[in-house]
Amino acid sequence: MRKIVLAAAAAFILTAPAFAAEEVKPMEREWHFNGMLGKFDKQQLQRGFQVYKEVCASCHSLNYISFRNLEDIGYSEDQVKVIAAEYQVTDGPDENGDMFQRPARPSDHIPHPFANDQLARASNGGALPPDLSLMTKAREDGPNYVYSLMLGYKEAPNGFELNPGMSYNAFFPGHQIAMPQQITDDRVTYADGTKASAEQIATDVVAFLHWTAEPKLEVRHATGVRVLLFAFLFTVLAYLYKRRLWARLGKH
Ligand code: HEC
Repeated sequence: MRKIVLAAAAAFILTAPAFAAEEVKPMEREWHFNGMLGKFDKQQLQRGFQVYKEVCASCHSLNYISFRNLEDIGYSEDQVKVIAAEYQVTDGPDENGDMFQRPARPSDHIPHPFANDQLARASNGGALPPDLSLMTKAREDGPNYVYSLMLGYKEAPNGFELNPGMSYNAFFPGHQIAMPQQITDDRVTYADGTKASAEQIATDVVAFLHWTAEPKLEVRHATGVRVLLFAFLFTVLAYLYKRRLWARLGKH
C-alpha cells in the first residue's frame, strides 16, 4: 500500500511541471509596497499617474478614483484643482433642462474616456478596455502580471495565427490581445526628470494602479505590525506569568 502511495506521489511530482508549463509565469519584480513594512513611494505614484494620464486614460477608466484622492499621493489641494480643471465633465440639467459641460472639480471622478461600453468596444476592435482601478487585485500575482503584460509584446512565433488587429503578448492568456503595445522607451517625458525606460514606465504605472486598488495599504501594514507587536508582548507576559505561577506552586 505504501509503495502505491509513494509511486502516485512521485508520478504527481514528476508531471506537475508539465501542467504548470501551460500558463506563463509573470516576471517578478521587487515592489516598494510589498512585505509587512511595504510603503508606497509617492514620487513613483505621481510618475505612474502621469503615465496613466498620458498613455492609458484614452482607453481605460479609473472608476473608483476622484481627483481629490490624488492628494494622497502627494499633490497639494491647489495642484489637484489644476489637474481636475484640465478635464471636462457633463453636469446639469441647468434651469432650461439642458446638460452642460464644465471643467472638472476635485470632487469629480476621473471622467470615463468613452461615453458608453459600445463606443469603447467599437473603438477597440470589439474588445472592451477594462476599468483599471482594481486591476492589480483582480488578476493573480497582479502587480507582476500587469508589469509583464506591459513589457510582453513580441513578434508572434512562426506558425502562430494572429487574428487581424490583434497583438502577440507572451503573458496574456492565449497570447492574443486586443490592446496594442503601449509602453516603449521614452513614451513619456517625466515631470521629475527620471529617465523613462520602458521598464521604469511599466514599474511606475503598476505602482500607481496598485495604489488605486488599495489606497489604504500603508494603514493596513501599520495595523499588522501593531497587532504582531501586541501578540509578541502578550506572549512574553503570559510566559513570565506562567513561570511565576509554577515557581510558587513548586514551593508548596
Ligand atoms: C488604445 C487603447 C488602449 C490603451 C491606450 C491602453 N489599453 Fe489596456 N486594454 C485595451 C483593450 C482593448 C484591452 C482588452 C484586451 C483584450 O481583452 O484582448 C485592454 C486590456 C488591458 C488590461 C487587462 C489585461 C487582462 O488580463 O485582461 C490591462 C491590465 C491594461 N489593458 C493595462 C493598460 C495600461 C496600464 C495602459 C497604459 C500604460 C493601457 N492599458 C493602455 C486598450 C488600451
